[in-house]
Amino acid sequence: MNQYLNFSQKDYLQLQKVYEALLQQVYEICNQKEVSEEEIDQLFRSHYKNLQSFLLDSNGKEIFKKYRESPDVLEIKCAEYTSEFQMRLLGIYLSKVKQPVLDIGCGQQANLVHFLRKNDIVVYGLDRNVQNLNNKIYQVDWLEYTYVPDTWGTVISHMAFSNHFMHHHLRPDGDYEKYATKYMEILKSLKIGGSFIYAPGLSFMEEILISTFDSYTVETGEYSTMVTRIN
Ligand SMILES: C[S@@+](CC[C@H](N)C(=O)[O-])C[C@H]1O[C@@H](n2cnc3c(N)ncnc32)[C@H](O)[C@@H]1O
Repeated sequence: MNQYLNFSQKDYLQLQKVYEALLQQVYEICNQKEVSEEEIDQLFRSHYKNLQSFLLDSNGKEIFKKYRESPDVLEIKCAEYTSEFQMRLLGIYLSKVKQPVLDIGCGQQANLVHFLRKNDIVVYGLDRNVQNLNNKIYQVDWLEYTYVPDTWGTVISHMAFSNHFMHHHLRPDGDYEKYATKYMEILKSLKIGGSFIYAPGLSFMEEILISTFDSYTVETGEYSTMVTRIN
């Protein structure tokens, strides 16, 4: 599935209603003495329409407009990477990691979280699809998680939050305001001296950050960006 499709808790409740309506209609039809093919056809047509409206309401028109241009759009998958690869690409060194660490969009396998934990680092992870939930790994939407001020020594998000923020920034009906608000909340959740390290792509936001606040420094390399809270 296209990784940029997203469903909030409210959307899941809405989807539940769509299926409740379908089941109610099926129940009513089953109680009739006779059912015509036309009625069944009508039932599925209306369910299809309800699903279409649900998708447009929850994710906007643009993503589906692109889908009409190329069905491949619905297959934009996301991969997971080894902890070694993530550490190397983001330029993170075990000896220098400030704790506690939060991995935003840690992936189903939470590779980096497990690796850091094995190395005695205090680390938490969150992801909407994470499995094998255990202590300090949360299944949650990163836009719905509360980043408590002055908490984290390091926040990491490899090929996750920043990619989605850029996607919403570029998409005509994107939720960029929500992403910008969460981005600032994440930065405020750093302790002084703490860093947010992510895949590059948010220069539009970093420029505003540097020109508006004197609390952060930004270092951008070819493969990673590091924003550090300095006061
Ligand atoms: C490309 S994967 C990267 C996973 C991991 N950081 C890695 O490098 O192996 C992106 C991850 O972001 C997660 N994700 C996407 N949107 C999310 C959201 N709104 N809230 C929480 N996680 C999300 C996906 O479930 C996926 O695991």
